[in-house]
Amino acid sequence: MLQANNPANRDLIVNINGNLMHRDQAGVSPFDSSVQNGDAVWEGLRLYDGRIFKLDEHLARLRKSATLLSYEGYPGETRLIDELRRTLEANAMRDEVHIRLTVSRGEKYTSGLDPRINQLGCSFFILAEHKPPVYDKSGVTLATAKTRRPFANVLNQHIHSCNQLTSILAKLEANAAGADDALMLDTDGNLAETNATHVFLVKGGTVLTSTTDACPEGITRSTVLNLCAQHGIPHEVRHIPEAEIHAADEVFCTGTMGELAPVVRIDETEFAPGNLTARLSDLFTELTKTEGTRLLDKSSPV
Ligand SMILES: Cc1ncc(COP(=O)(O)O)c(C=O)c1O
Repeated sequence: MLQANNPANRDLIVNINGNLMHRDQAGVSPFDSSVQNGDAVWEGLRLYDGRIFKLDEHLARLRKSATLLSYEGYPGETRLIDELRRTLEANAMRDEVHIRLTVSRGEKYTSGLDPRINQLGCSFFILAEHKPPVYDKSGVTLATAKTRRPFANVLNQHIHSCNQLTSILAKLEANAAGADDALMLDTDGNLAETNATHVFLVKGGTVLTSTTDACPEGITRSTVLNLCAQHGIPHEVRHIPEAEIHAADEVFCTGTMGELAPVVRIDETEFAPGNLTARLSDLFTELTKTEGTRLLDKSSPV
């Protein structure tokens, strides 16, 4: 799936360390750790009618990622929420907006890897774009990548970092195969996720997903598991061997960027979009209509 270039985003105002500026004027220092080492953590947030869905959960995951990397001078939740609001107001945004919130280890006083040459505290960047859910709700296709997701003894996937080369290598494989995204296994050959989303299977009426041993703790993933629990839908979290994926009745993927989307093909195996995928997708949509942290007043300009 190739995202279209949305002309509504031509004159975005972005937020660099609290400074609001036109996207063409925005600059990040070449001394910043994000540029030097890909040493930054991020969250993708979605705005529904002035409310950010699961904002507290996203901010908790961001802080956890920063803590796992021993960041110093973290901006803090109150500041980040204020800056998110300022950015949305500057762009007169209210709905169908995706926000990339990034915190880096900050600027170094000289080029290098060592975190001790970072003495200014973290940097943060907020990019809010007009972006409805990106996945085609009629179904996406996946190609199994040779690139695998590592376990925490190689790179802890619970650090949700901007260092996304594993995903990019897998996505290049998917692009070459003509698929929308890559299905990624862990190094033991069990299901991990795609290059950008979590994967769920339905088999015999039970909803299944992988553990998070080799993938991030997804916010949409947890929301779907909670919906299953609340609505009496049988569900299981466990290691899922590759062969079991192809034997599923339904497959769908989840993520803030695209919500829930059915998977209609993995390599040569085809799947029909199924009833449980549609039901969970509807339940998720219902939640987004009522839940979320209100950042913009109901009377804010559109
Ligand atoms: C690698 C990866 N997997 C899955 C997801 C989906 O997670 P969430 O549901 O929290 O958006 C993301 C989102 O940022 C991601 O980067």
